[in-house]
Amino acid sequence: MDESNNRKTMNKISYGIDAPKVIRNLFLVGIIFLVLAIFLPAITISKVQIQTAQISFTIALICIIEAALMLLYSLVGKFKHRDRMLKLHEWKGNEMVLDVGTGHGLLMIGAAKRLTTGKSLGIDIWKNSDLSNNTLQQTEQNAVLENVSDKIKILSQDITHTTFRDNYFDVVVSNLCLHNIYNKEGRATACKEIYRILKDNGVAIISDFKHTGDYKKAFESQGMNVEKIGIYFIDTFPPLTIIRAKKIR
Ligand SMILES: C[S@@+](CC[C@H](N)C(=O)[O-])C[C@H]1O[C@@H](n2cnc3c(N)ncnc32)[C@H](O)[C@@H]1O
Repeated sequence: MDESNNRKTMNKISYGIDAPKVIRNLFLVGIIFLVLAIFLPAITISKVQIQTAQISFTIALICIIEAALMLLYSLVGKFKHRDRMLKLHEWKGNEMVLDVGTGHGLLMIGAAKRLTTGKSLGIDIWKNSDLSNNTLQQTEQNAVLENVSDKIKILSQDITHTTFRDNYFDVVVSNLCLHNIYNKEGRATACKEIYRILKDNGVAIISDFKHTGDYKKAFESQGMNVEKIGIYFIDTFPPLTIIRAKKIR
């Protein structure tokens, strides 16, 4: 990308495309099966005729619809889901907030807009496979363009071992991050870390498309008061579920 193109991207608010390679691969596989549906002849195996064209067409349709729904979530649905998540807390304005796996700052910036004296922090390890153009600089730029740069702080940290002290945050939010920790123990460690850094009476609002039952159990095992909200089929894809867990004294 030349310098002027680079400057153009950096001057725009962008919340990125989630799982860009998955979307690209689904589209590619869909197109391959669509071509196969046109050219494949029917196969007969011991007098049974297999309609390969119909099978290929069905696979193509499933892949293309999934890719389109994922793209639609990234471009439209995620903003509705962000507001839905943030509405699950009664904001006073003075909270210390952490967005785990902030990416381009979707929840960190959304929370910052609800603060007066509080501060909204975002941590990430900036994986490009999880979000397009995933850089700290793009997130900083978004905060400037959204007029919240005085209320936010972005740090490069992994949720399985943060440097925050115990009982530090009033609210911890996270969307589509924890499933990216590939082993069960790692995800349980992340939930324990969230519990550790939450203040008494603090709340964790965690959204994901899988493993939410495990997060619920992990928070319950710490003695938290846990509620499972959703699944949301209409405006999120893959459909998301929210776990709201309160740390009780
Ligand atoms: C699908 S993106 C979602 C970004 C943002 N939460 C949103 O909803 O737009 C997942 C993000 O989690 C980050 N991530 C993955 N594993 C992480 C970890 N162990 N600690 C912190 N962030 C992580 C990725 O780098 C990526 O930015």
